[in-house]
Amino acid sequence: MTAANPLRDPRDRRLPRIAGPCSVIMFGVTGDLARKKLIPAIYDLAHRGLLPPGFALVGFARHDFGDRTFASMIKDAAKAGARTEWSETVWKQLAAGIRFVPGQFDDDDAWDRLAETLAELDSTQGTGGNHAFYLSIPPGLFPVVVSKIKEHGLATSSEGWRRVVIEKPFGHDLESARELNRLVDDVFPRTSVFRIDHYLGKETVQNILALRFANGMFEPIWNSHYVDHVQITMAEDIGIGSRAGYYDGIGAARDVIQNHLLQLMALVAMEEPVSLDANSLRLEKQKILANASAPAELSKHTARAQYTSGWAGGVEVEGYLDEDGIPEDSRTETYAAMRIDIGTRRWAGVPFYLRTGKRLGRRVTEVAVVFKRAPHLPFRKHDVTELGQNALVLRIQPDEGVTLRFGAKVPGTTMEIRDVNMDFAYGGAFVESSPEAYERLILDVLLGDPPLFPQQEEVELSWKILDPVIRHWRRQRTIDSYQAGTWGPESADAMIRRDGRTWRRP
Ligand code: BG6
Repeated sequence: MTAANPLRDPRDRRLPRIAGPCSVIMFGVTGDLARKKLIPAIYDLAHRGLLPPGFALVGFARHDFGDRTFASMIKDAAKAGARTEWSETVWKQLAAGIRFVPGQFDDDDAWDRLAETLAELDSTQGTGGNHAFYLSIPPGLFPVVVSKIKEHGLATSSEGWRRVVIEKPFGHDLESARELNRLVDDVFPRTSVFRIDHYLGKETVQNILALRFANGMFEPIWNSHYVDHVQITMAEDIGIGSRAGYYDGIGAARDVIQNHLLQLMALVAMEEPVSLDANSLRLEKQKILANASAPAELSKHTARAQYTSGWAGGVEVEGYLDEDGIPEDSRTETYAAMRIDIGTRRWAGVPFYLRTGKRLGRRVTEVAVVFKRAPHLPFRKHDVTELGQNALVLRIQPDEGVTLRFGAKVPGTTMEIRDVNMDFAYGGAFVESSPEAYERLILDVLLGDPPLFPQQEEVELSWKILDPVIRHWRRQRTIDSYQAGTWGPESADAMIRRDGRTWRRP
């Protein structure tokens, strides 16, 4: 008889999903994203025992670190960003599979060296011919990297699998997204392409599916009979930092509405998929995206602005135009808001308001489903002046949970009603802290598990929603502004006020 594991909770039916032998070849390994998110996530996966002994991490970059200094760069990044505690034992095991291939992306000799490195890893680390190419590089470098992967015969293999992981931006409009896709499509089969939208890796975003489809009580009211409107907010207190090169010319709408916010909208609005497999899920999201658009009068239903100097976290901060590397006549928006209508029976007449911005009051992402008022209130008028609209707020981050807001009687001798909150907080309900989005997504890539990765159809449909808005903005000669540390420009308040509504203060 085997002894029971005393630490295992018998109610926990989750089986650990552990990746098989493989390597990740990282392009853009010295970039911000790799250092802050990807490398720490790989370390955390290793620490949680979810990577196999036969795992390797290969960096391909211009800098000539030599193997040792590259490994120490990885170590520093892992130590600085890891969610789990530091363990030299875990690190040593990981370090055994770390390799660095110096070279330019267009240098064929370097690609030969990469091919040799992968062969060497297959025999010494036992990676079994399974390799994932992770492209965390500016879009301009895509053509050369993807075509070299093909030319050097690395996209296919008689043993093991080959996959490609693509970080956004997936183009800057519909046309460029299609062009990018043609490039990738020519080299990898659809099932081997993993497009990252890191919001889908967040626990609280996956919980939208659980909340909606594992429970009976929300579905009956999840439609235009009961819902007045939905507000999706992604606010950041940070500015653009050192990302001027990426951000300027891109702006808030392309940076996060095209992907994260439209994905959130699709998850909130979609019909119940027949199962949670990738095809069923994507199909339902696509139906929403295909029927969603901003109203025709774009000047009334969209807003965009740039932050000016102000305060963030008690510190005085510069305006966007004074940030390093931003041209003084830049018209790139750091704040964007828009109304989106979804033409389906469930949602006709229920606007979805999307807003995002840098240097706002605080960092918060939430989805607020705001309900219609009760059709009749048998109270005296002044007893309900403090009663707002009921709302179900999905708190995506940082204070993860769900809030239900409704009216309750204020204790006392009169029937005064006031809004109160009922809260579910992850910290109170679960002992384990949530994994970072990238841990989940990288593991899913290595397992070949696709539901959390949008496909080209979703990317294109999202651009179709956004392209007319961005074209409209491009025709404007000026851009509004908002002071850093506030909740955005007056034009965004006016936009929602026109519909007789106000933004929630998250
Ligand atoms: C990225 C954007 O996709 O998401 C960044 O490019 C943004 O501009 C980031 O700061 C926010 O991610 P998170 O997980 O902190 O909400």
